[in-house]
Amino acid sequence: MSRSAAFRAVFLGPPGAGKGTQALELAKSLGVGHLSTGDMLRAHVARGTPLGLRAKGFMDAGKLVSDELIIAMVEERLSGDLQSSGWILDGFPRTVPQAQALDKSLGSSGRPLTHVFYFAVPRSELMSRLTGRRTCSSCGAIWNVTSKPTKLAGICDACGGALTHRSDDRPEAVGRRLEEYDKSTQPLLAHYRAAGCLIEIDAGRSPAQVNDQIIAVVKARAV
Ligand code: AP5
Repeated sequence: MSRSAAFRAVFLGPPGAGKGTQALELAKSLGVGHLSTGDMLRAHVARGTPLGLRAKGFMDAGKLVSDELIIAMVEERLSGDLQSSGWILDGFPRTVPQAQALDKSLGSSGRPLTHVFYFAVPRSELMSRLTGRRTCSSCGAIWNVTSKPTKLAGICDACGGALTHRSDDRPEAVGRRLEEYDKSTQPLLAHYRAAGCLIEIDAGRSPAQVNDQIIAVVKARAV
């Protein structure tokens, strides 16, 4: 598939829906940027930056980081290295004020969203996906002890890096993240449905089947 500078997509869905898994795959196959606000925040936490120090407590508790911090962080990337390329926003926006800020910024640059994918998954599936998730500390690949195990426990198949277990994937933090999703992010479905750009994906199926659904939409709506 050719590089698409005009591909500007949002991946929306609850924690554990598979947004990161699919965004990594699609960004690679389309040759577009992948902006994950969760990954950006975790990188700030790891470096001990002022933003990371402010964000850590909220993240560990399963709460959202303030709109002001997140919007500034995303706008810096969209007006910087991602300005002339296509991109996937993974985990942003996740509040109505974040969506309004994004609409405003994209509207003023004449580059509206081309796709908003909603990853629909039965709630019963999410807890096991999250508590079983392992992430490579070196290349960022996403694994799962049950559904996508590595050949050697704790070692990334892709690069040999050490796997980590996210601190917010403990069952009690997952419960709070799901509550935050229901309260703050779920209303975005109505926002994007009204804008006519919401595409629902059955994300309760296997990763390959989810990828097939996304690719079919991308091909049908080539930009
Ligand atoms: P973030 O990192 O964005 O977490 P999230 O949205 O909760 O999403 P996850 O990364 O948990 O799940 P995912 O949908 O990407 O699933 P994955 O592909 O990894 O945010 C973390 C925190 O940062 C937030 O709680 C908040 O504090 C803060 N934050 C971030 N953005 C913010 C914002 N915009 N505003 C405010 N605060 C913000 O898959 C999960 C597991 O399932 C993996 O093990 C995977 O292998 C497996 N899996 C994937 N697909 C399938 C499948 N189809 N079948 C079976 N298993 C699967």
